[in-house]
Amino acid sequence: MDQRGKRAGGVDRRSVVAGAVACCATGRAAWAGPEDALPQKGDRLVLGDGAQAGQAVTLASLAEEGTLVEAVAVDPAGIKRDGSRFSKIILVRVAPGDIAEEIRPHTVEGVVALSGVCTHQGCTISGWNHEDRKLSCFCHHSEFLPAEGGRVAKGPARKRLPVLPLARGEGGALMVAGSFTSKPGPGTA
Ligand code: FES
Repeated sequence: MDQRGKRAGGVDRRSVVAGAVACCATGRAAWAGPEDALPQKGDRLVLGDGAQAGQAVTLASLAEEGTLVEAVAVDPAGIKRDGSRFSKIILVRVAPGDIAEEIRPHTVEGVVALSGVCTHQGCTISGWNHEDRKLSCFCHHSEFLPAEGGRVAKGPARKRLPVLPLARGEGGALMVAGSFTSKPGPGTA
């Protein structure tokens, strides 16, 4: 049984009611666990979709410039941080020389990790045009520049996509080296 199943199995009705009250009073889920937390330093990254979902994201997963993958962070205990949609991560590989100086320390060999949630109204970022080096959101066509730290290239979004700092782990595995540079999800700054 996974960790989420274990927690759910131990919750009685009274706890649920108490939890719901705490939730509504604080605006946060009272029983939030590691799966609900945003990616953190020391997490490893695994592929989030497709036939290879769950496999480690390595530099080889993004061997060519222009590659994009969706990823999920996994904590040191092996729990996937997929309880919050704001944990969605996308990684793209661009030419290292194109990366803005201020985010270069957060990248590994041209691989940039960003929040996969549009900062306009929260749709999932899914478009990538390597010619223009722009990520796009199909809901209202905002565009973002990963090599420039998620800067908005075209609105209606006004807030850049947060960057997730990366580090190289054993065997070229990509690891989380810190928290998102700003709060993921809709916002204005
Ligand atoms: S939600 Fe992405 S552009 Fe509106």
